[in-house]
Amino acid sequence: MEILSNYPLKNLNTFGIAACAKEYVSVTSVEELKLVLKENQGKKLFILGGGSNMLLTQDIDALVIHINLKGIEVVAENNGTAQVKAMAGENWHGFVQYCINHNYGGVENLSLIPGNVGTTPIQNIGAYGTEIKDTMIQCEALHIATQELRTFTNAECEFAYRESIFKSELKGQYIIVSVTFDLTIANHKINTAYGDITAQLAAKGITSPTIKDVSEAVTAIRQSKLPDPKELGNSGSFFKNPIIPKAQYEALHEKFPDMPHYVVSETQVKVPAGWLIEQSGFKGSRFGNAGVHARQALVIVNYGNATGQELVNLSKKIQQTVFENYGIAIEAEVNIV
Ligand code: EPU
Repeated sequence: MEILSNYPLKNLNTFGIAACAKEYVSVTSVEELKLVLKENQGKKLFILGGGSNMLLTQDIDALVIHINLKGIEVVAENNGTAQVKAMAGENWHGFVQYCINHNYGGVENLSLIPGNVGTTPIQNIGAYGTEIKDTMIQCEALHIATQELRTFTNAECEFAYRESIFKSELKGQYIIVSVTFDLTIANHKINTAYGDITAQLAAKGITSPTIKDVSEAVTAIRQSKLPDPKELGNSGSFFKNPIIPKAQYEALHEKFPDMPHYVVSETQVKVPAGWLIEQSGFKGSRFGNAGVHARQALVIVNYGNATGQELVNLSKKIQQTVFENYGIAIEAEVNIV
């Protein structure tokens, strides 16, 4: 475990931004992590996981701690479910594939989401009708200031749409080191309610899908809409889907009857930001090295050597135009550093 200086981060963030860390260390065990935290108290720290949800706009003037904790284990099996614990540095999709291969159900709808296991609870990742909060039992996190390990139950994480306690009250205070999921080993709860999945399965003539079928369908849908970060720098959805008051939605609906929406509660409605951005004319547009993906307007892409600032400028232009057109403020989902 060696602390390196001026370490390049281009290959460690999915936007492929060429930024450097003032200092960098990779940790491969909880003990190493504790030691680094203890020996570097008072230093500015930056915790790096899969690098798939951040946009670097400058060099990082801090000690970057790269969480490379690995391992997956079944901690218990009972009543038709398995409790499976994965360390934070495991690649998320690798973990999903492990689950499919062992016939553990519950995370198949979250196939191919970039990033590592340890960051999944922070923003309660979700796709195709499932969120991490549906299967996560608990996560273990290290308190940065005291190096004490604390277990957070699902309820204690205070999950909401792309939100958790780790993004609000406890922001910057804990490092997640492992996440444990409660997964089915029989009678899987297949969730194909999300329109595209049903169509994808029907096209293959599958009427009673297995979790593997669902995983493959989700993978195919994602591959058709979302660019592979290895080919085109991006970080998935750049914006969150805005949640607006029902009255505002109803007024907009009068003017824009085709606007898709999802009912969140009796008083709130979620509107797809991808639709708002597409209707505002940005889909497939390109401004220098920065652009909006041609097949999913929610994704901002780096066509090559964009700086983080260029991408941020584009995101601001989008936010402003959407606000002018619809009176809706769309918020970044990605962390702008
Ligand atoms: N839409 C458009 N134009 C676009 C994109 C979307 O009109 O360019 C419309 C679609 O027609 C559809 C609606 O928006 O009516 C929803 O689109 P989609 O099913 O593609 O999902 P999304 O709401 O745009 C969310 C997640 C994705 C996740 C998908 C599938 C957020 C911020 N994003 O996108 O998550 O994969 O649902 O469940 O909630 C990610 O977070 O990185 C991510 C990719």
